[in-house]
Amino acid sequence: MSLLEIMLQRRSIRKYTGEDISAEKLEKILQAGLLAPTSRNRKPCTLYVVKDRAKLEALSQAKNAGAAMLADCAAAIAVFGDPLKADTWIEDSSIALSYMNLMAVEQGVGSCWVQMHLREDREGQDAEQNVLEILGAPAHFRIVGILSLGMPAEMPEPHSLPDVGTETIQI
Ligand SMILES: Cc1cc2nc3c(=O)[nH]c(=O)nc-3n(C[C@H](O)[C@H](O)[C@H](O)COP(=O)(O)O)c2cc1C
Repeated sequence: MSLLEIMLQRRSIRKYTGEDISAEKLEKILQAGLLAPTSRNRKPCTLYVVKDRAKLEALSQAKNAGAAMLADCAAAIAVFGDPLKADTWIEDSSIALSYMNLMAVEQGVGSCWVQMHLREDREGQDAEQNVLEILGAPAHFRIVGILSLGMPAEMPEPHSLPDVGTETIQI
């Protein structure tokens, strides 16, 4: 698939078959995250691969909505940013998430970005803080989001260029 084809195919996949993802596919997805560019090449991101079912279940409750698929995914990649290494941790983490999202398509793996930054759980607790505690990450780490991964049990229609809708302005 060309990069454009991958981008057209990329959809958020929230339902998974329950099959495991092969180590090779997971490795390729992680490589994509590690290859993402970072401001001043500071590389502030640490990728936590989570397969432990109890932790995945806990992560699915870390915010009040939109994280349920984490309880059923084969693996999740939590992208932590270290603000002491780079003030661009949000941008750097987001690019890593996007690169992995695209590589997942190339590998035939379903994935979905699960936002944690600026979100709360049902009790109004900060979702980022919940994720840090669940995964035992250093207290100063920050997290934009988690990528849920699994073999796809749904196949939404690919995007098509006339449908995407965002305007471009030619000057
Ligand atoms: C910054 C960002 C945050 C997102 N957060 C969530 C989320 O928390 N839960 C979820 O189910 N989908 C989330 N998504 C997926 C979007 O809902 C999805 O990308 C959008 O609806 C377009 O659909 P598509 O990915 O199938 O093209 C997020 C996507 C982005 C880019």
